[in-house]
Amino acid sequence: MTLLEIFPSLRPSVSARLDPAVWPRDTHYDDTGRVTIGGVALADIADRYRTPSYVLDEAEVRGRCRDYRAAFPEAEIIYAGKALMIRAVADWVSQEGLSVDVCSAGELAIALAAGVPAQRIVMHGNGKTSDELRAAVAAGVGRIVVDSLAEITLLSALVTRRQRVLLRLSPGIDVHGHPAVRTGVLDQKFGFPMGSEAAAEAVTRILRQPALELIGLHCHLGSQIHDPDHYGEAVRKLVAEMAAIRRDHGLLLTHLDLGGGHAVAYRGGEAQMNLTELAEVLEDALDAACARQRFPRPRIAMEPGRAIVARAGVTVYRVVSVKRIDGGHTYVTVDGGMGDNARVALYGARHSAVVANRHPAGPLITATVAGRFCEAGDVIAADVRLPVDLRPGEVLAVPCTGAYHHSLASCYNSVGRPPIIAVARGRDRELVRRETVDDLLRRDIGR
Ligand SMILES: Cc1ncc(COP(=O)(O)O)c(C=O)c1O
Repeated sequence: MTLLEIFPSLRPSVSARLDPAVWPRDTHYDDTGRVTIGGVALADIADRYRTPSYVLDEAEVRGRCRDYRAAFPEAEIIYAGKALMIRAVADWVSQEGLSVDVCSAGELAIALAAGVPAQRIVMHGNGKTSDELRAAVAAGVGRIVVDSLAEITLLSALVTRRQRVLLRLSPGIDVHGHPAVRTGVLDQKFGFPMGSEAAAEAVTRILRQPALELIGLHCHLGSQIHDPDHYGEAVRKLVAEMAAIRRDHGLLLTHLDLGGGHAVAYRGGEAQMNLTELAEVLEDALDAACARQRFPRPRIAMEPGRAIVARAGVTVYRVVSVKRIDGGHTYVTVDGGMGDNARVALYGARHSAVVANRHPAGPLITATVAGRFCEAGDVIAADVRLPVDLRPGEVLAVPCTGAYHHSLASCYNSVGRPPIIAVARGRDRELVRRETVDDLLRRDIGR
């Protein structure tokens, strides 16, 4: 007989702990108190594939794509592959009708290998090399987002047929995020400051190249933006800029790509982007801006990355030790850390964690979940409530690790990167295998 059978009154508190804003929709406690996602117990994944492992809920990724398509039926939704670029995800989002944004030859190759039609690929990057531009042109990508004057020269020399391009502008909108991801302000490395001589020069130079077809403007304001009004402001500024280009050059731009950056909640209670509100703000801003500028409505595109995959991902770890410091914290050290979750060190991100192999009924303590890497700052989650009798060997799950976790992973301390295990309809399958010590040795070819 299970705890939940003996104490059915525990059930409400059980579901309350697995906040649907943070966990995949199909997350439950099973009858034995274990956390399941997509019908698969995380403890079974830990046994089968070892730890740490990234778990990815296919239905959650597809569901997020559908949410976007439903909220913005007329817009183009472009999945930002930098959040998590593996063949399976590129395939799922493409099947769900999304386009794909890539920012390197590697991401381009993965998208193409997944069967994403080249015409639905958008190539980004502030430092695209000539090899990368050549690969993009050869593949026939639908759009290249021009980021510098040098790139216009390079691209003009490479194109063999007419290539559609967008011009990336920074609209001078400060969303007050972490400095590492604030990309809407004028003084930063991406794109051209809106209204600058460089931006005007970029338009002139593109128009001088018959093989380049400038179809629209692009901006990306930053990350973890939950206030839709920032996007309304971007629409107003960029439509005004499109009208100025029509006035100065007689060119009617038809595409407006507003980038990504829609916030997700990493822990219960955190703000996330409300897609219905965003849709309303964009509609109003487009109506007002187009009327004011007497400009035809452009086709809107958006590039969510995190909002598509973050919540679909959960990382499972095993507890290695539990250390109580007299007068200090309780450290629960797990067998992963900053190698598989760089966000804490990079952005000061805050995560939560739960024990996944049993229901946490009984007394709890406040603990710090620490990583196994040789940095004092390697902490995955602070101030989390875990069972007081937590033991080495038990399984912890950290939610909302589907975006910028595998992509930012490193093999620091020569610890190989974790595998990605997909769960769907009660089954699990390995999408990316674990990086082994043999893999590391194979790359290390000198003596
Ligand atoms: C140009 C561009 N588009 C989209 C994104 C995706 O952002 P997010 O994952 O926050 O939605 C990024 C992230 O850096 C970006 O640089």
